[in-house]
Amino acid sequence: MHIMSAMSAIPAIHVAIVGAGPSGFYAAEALLRSGLSVRVDMIERLPTPFGLVRSGVAPDHPKLKQAILVYDRIARTPGFNFFGNVQVGRDITVAELRATHHAVVFACGAETDRRMGVPGEDLPRSHTATEFVGWFNGHPDYRDRTFDLSQETVAIVGQGNVAADVCRILAKPVDELRSTDIAEHAFDALARSQVREIHVIGRRGPVQAKFTTKELRELGEIAGCATLADAADLVLNAESETELMDRNNLNGLGNIALFRAFAVRKPEVGQRAIRFRFHLNPMALVGDGQVEKLILTRTRLEGPPFAQVARATDEPVELDCGLVFRSIGYRSVPIPGLPFDDTLGTVPHTGGRVLAGAVTLPGLYVSGWLKRGPTGIIGTNRADSVETVESLLADLSKGCDQEKRGAETVGELLERRGVRVFDYQNWSMLDTAEISRGKPKGKPREKFTRIDEMLAASAGRGNEAGRSFGSALALASQWKGSSHPNTPVETMDTMAEEASDADSIAVRPESQISIKTGASPNRQEIERRREIVRQLFNDFWVSAEDKPGTFAERLNRAEGHINEQLAARGETWQLDAASRKQLGLPPSKTV
Ligand SMILES: Cc1cc2nc3c(=O)[nH]c(=O)nc-3n(C[C@H](O)[C@H](O)[C@H](O)COP(=O)(O)OP(=O)(O)OC[C@H]3O[C@@H](n4cnc5c(N)ncnc54)[C@H](O)[C@@H]3O)c2cc1C
Ligand SMILES: NC(=O)c1ccc[n+]([C@@H]2O[C@H](COP(=O)([O-])OP(=O)(O)OC[C@H]3O[C@@H](n4cnc5c(N)ncnc54)[C@H](OP(=O)(O)O)[C@@H]3O)[C@@H](O)[C@H]2O)c1
Repeated sequence: MHIMSAMSAIPAIHVAIVGAGPSGFYAAEALLRSGLSVRVDMIERLPTPFGLVRSGVAPDHPKLKQAILVYDRIARTPGFNFFGNVQVGRDITVAELRATHHAVVFACGAETDRRMGVPGEDLPRSHTATEFVGWFNGHPDYRDRTFDLSQETVAIVGQGNVAADVCRILAKPVDELRSTDIAEHAFDALARSQVREIHVIGRRGPVQAKFTTKELRELGEIAGCATLADAADLVLNAESETELMDRNNLNGLGNIALFRAFAVRKPEVGQRAIRFRFHLNPMALVGDGQVEKLILTRTRLEGPPFAQVARATDEPVELDCGLVFRSIGYRSVPIPGLPFDDTLGTVPHTGGRVLAGAVTLPGLYVSGWLKRGPTGIIGTNRADSVETVESLLADLSKGCDQEKRGAETVGELLERRGVRVFDYQNWSMLDTAEISRGKPKGKPREKFTRIDEMLAASAGRGNEAGRSFGSALALASQWKGSSHPNTPVETMDTMAEEASDADSIAVRPESQISIKTGASPNRQEIERRREIVRQLFNDFWVSAEDKPGTFAERLNRAEGHINEQLAARGETWQLDAASRKQLGLPPSKTV
């Protein structure tokens, strides 16, 4: 093969990926599936992987977090290393990664926020959605933020899906958040919330609102909350009508239908209310030492269909409110040693190759929100990362004969600097600990929200082979009644009691599906079997997600599927019926 011949002189290509969010994992997947001999070192500043899937996606949207199943599988592929708790630009430099790896992919997302650029923006009680979302999702950077939820009236500036998440978390009855993975400190604060009225403010009109219809509909279905719009705001100009008539604009049509339904709703006494407000541009936040009022100006739309902009009129509008969240988009943070376009807030690139002016910088690549800006859902990052990896592999195919040591050199360097690296086994232990902490409360997990606690939670990990493979079968009866792989289940303390010569396989340590292997095979063989079972399980589980049956029934079917597939492959180490019996678990039909 083309690339192979160019690299035939070296045993493996070493690629560093900076950032463990969706774009980082999809880049890793594309590299590990390339058929080449690749080692991927994923470097993440937090001890925990998964980026915004862990710390952005709302706690009441657990299904959307299932992407983690895929990322977990990628992380367990041979050739993948996780260096958690390592920040590029602080603990290791771009130049060092360039020297130790054949290529470096930056997938650092967009960790800060845009500013409105109006007076009073930094007053107390004015916050960003970034902070609030990070806070309720247990991101350690935002652990100690406080929000004055004793205020009755809140304004959210911006009408995108992040604004919808912020609004929903503020408006929902707190009991509906109780069994989610919301951070404990946020749940406690929200339980005392006095918020009654939430104004969600757009500078343009209802047709231009960026909510997806599904998210908007959800806001209209919150128990005990009236979702309202003003009919006068829904009168459309000719350009907006043209936008609506575009056959591709199904989202606009869906949204306007919902806004029209909200316009005829009446608030009931004692209910919370969400009020959608349009054509209003923020001008200032004012108050005596803290936010008391938002000053807005009415706007009118100008420009052709799909390119209409909000032009300020001289009509002021005042809104009394004690808490303001701006949700007007995220923004990437420059990384020392890497070019950054300050206007766009992204790293300049062509096809994912990092540019310094008009020149591409060999060996440096970018992917995800850092590459294209802070838009797009989780899946959007897959094609984006595939494009970047295609560029990377095409470049390597032109010449790559210098041997590099990748993880080995990075590990030595970090050790010399006293950086405590959190590897994937550490994460697996932390994950298991979070799930155990959540269980008594009926939550899928109780997140650790401070870095020192995260490091401490996996401090006692041993290094013996097989130690993290989990113990024998511990599944169906414990999962009974659960509806989601990440829902809490009775767990065996598998890590602690595991013998170092364990011969069992944990498909996903956090889910406690384990399969006894029979006679003790060697470490490499255990690893091979574990990977096969995990893949069979994950493929089946994702494709069977919408099929009927209780969780236990679906799990039984998964076991059956795994056994069938193993038999078809001629593997002789299928699920062990004797062990099931011994453990008092129901027999698996196909064993
Ligand atoms: C609040 C919110 C909710 C969302 N909800 C959904 C949803 O429900 N469904 C959906 O499909 N999409 C959702 N999205 C969009 C989705 O999360 C993004 O498309 C996706 O996360 C972007 O992936 P990324 O890998 O580019 O960035 P990120 O997910 O942000 O990952 C970047 C990673 O890089 C790490 N990092 C940053 N700097 C460094 C450094 N210097 N060194 C080492 N590591 C570093 C960060 O810690 C982070 O883990 C949401 C987005 C937000 C903001
Ligand atoms: N459930 C989900 O699938 C989910 C959940 C959360 C996030 N996401 C995705 O994550 C991405 C980011 O979402 P987001 O909500 O942060 O961004 P977004 O969709 O781009 O929305 C940003 C909002 O802020 C407004 N805005 C921007 N600058 C402004 C200013 N200076 N003054 C007033 N308003 C301003 C925009 O209005 P204009 O249109 O006028 O610019 C828009 O209404 C999106 O692709 C989103 O779909 C998905």
